[in-house]
Amino acid sequence: MKVLIVVGTRPNFIKVSQFKKELKNSTLIDLKIVHTGQHYDVKMADVFFSQLNIKPDFYLNIAPNSACSQVAEIMIKLEELILNQYKPDLIVVVGDVNSTLAAAIAANKLNIKLAHLESGLRSRDRTMPEELNRIITDELSEVFFITEKSGYENLIKEGKNKDQLFMVGNTMIDSLIAFKPEIEKNEILNKLNLKPKEYILLTIHRPATVDYENGLINLIEVLKDLNKTEMLVFPIHPRTIKKLIEFDLYDSIKNLKNLQLIEPLDYFSFQKLLCNAKLIITDSGGIQEETTYEKIPCLTLRPNTERPITVEIGSNILIPFEINIIRKYINKITNGEFKKSSIPEL
Ligand code: UD1
Repeated sequence: MKVLIVVGTRPNFIKVSQFKKELKNSTLIDLKIVHTGQHYDVKMADVFFSQLNIKPDFYLNIAPNSACSQVAEIMIKLEELILNQYKPDLIVVVGDVNSTLAAAIAANKLNIKLAHLESGLRSRDRTMPEELNRIITDELSEVFFITEKSGYENLIKEGKNKDQLFMVGNTMIDSLIAFKPEIEKNEILNKLNLKPKEYILLTIHRPATVDYENGLINLIEVLKDLNKTEMLVFPIHPRTIKKLIEFDLYDSIKNLKNLQLIEPLDYFSFQKLLCNAKLIITDSGGIQEETTYEKIPCLTLRPNTERPITVEIGSNILIPFEINIIRKYINKITNGEFKKSSIPEL
């Protein structure tokens, strides 16, 4: 059986790192990976391939462009690849990014069976591009690989057949476990002069937070306030930095005394910072799961999550982007009064 996995962004790379290793001696499955090029910086892509030890077999090299152009270009180039170089029996798409959507549509047009890894997750928030990407991809899929029970329940409600659903657990956490020794050895704490449990790690990049001036102004107010009492580390995503510069706001935070504004980090460094942080403040999807596995308190600045298990039993909570509420939870965590969490199955 010929299988083609399509990846495009940082979290996708992490979710597929163990597949080739698992299938190394398989005579039944020929597995190839294609990278669309949605994430293209050395710091957002190449460093992940080298650390995670995965080598894409094909690159589509799409241009950095609007979401629409990227989706269109991925569809065209994937069709060329499939017609001329490698015709798979199954295409596997991952997560909820624009590359996922584009490849799902291409698979459908080319009449190739589609499997979705991390399927069935729903935030019920259609203002987020990822939610529509998830819904459309699942509509086009025939095989569903599921990470948590809400995914299973959502797909059943949407009329999928039980025979198509496979509860495989979280492959992002499989990667985390596989690379634990390298993560533990990483020197980022010394490099940034940080001590375990004495700093807050931040990641903010959602369009809903950073694409509008008001969201960015709020972010800056929060950073300035936290800077008075907390050590902060903020690896800043390309989208966030672009917007801060566009709205002429970058200068107002670049010299805050306790804030280390740094470039996007490689996988090992980021995980090392994550598992030693006092807490994390984020608007990411995957980080809610990594913090749950590591039992690190996670304050997610969103009104909803597509990964409810991280709130139900994990160490994640959803809160509004308001300094008073953020402070209330920081105090709880400092005083050991934050909820006790456990690690979900698989
Ligand atoms: C994408 C995903 C999001 C995921 C995130 C992880 C979609 C809809 N969103 O968001 O779900 O959480 O990846 O990081 O697919 N850029 C660079 N260098 C890069 C990559 C991007 O400068 O290597 C720039 C792009 O040119 C663009 C901006 O960052 O201006 C946003 O990139 P894009 O790929 O559109 O989405 P993300 O915000 O990264």
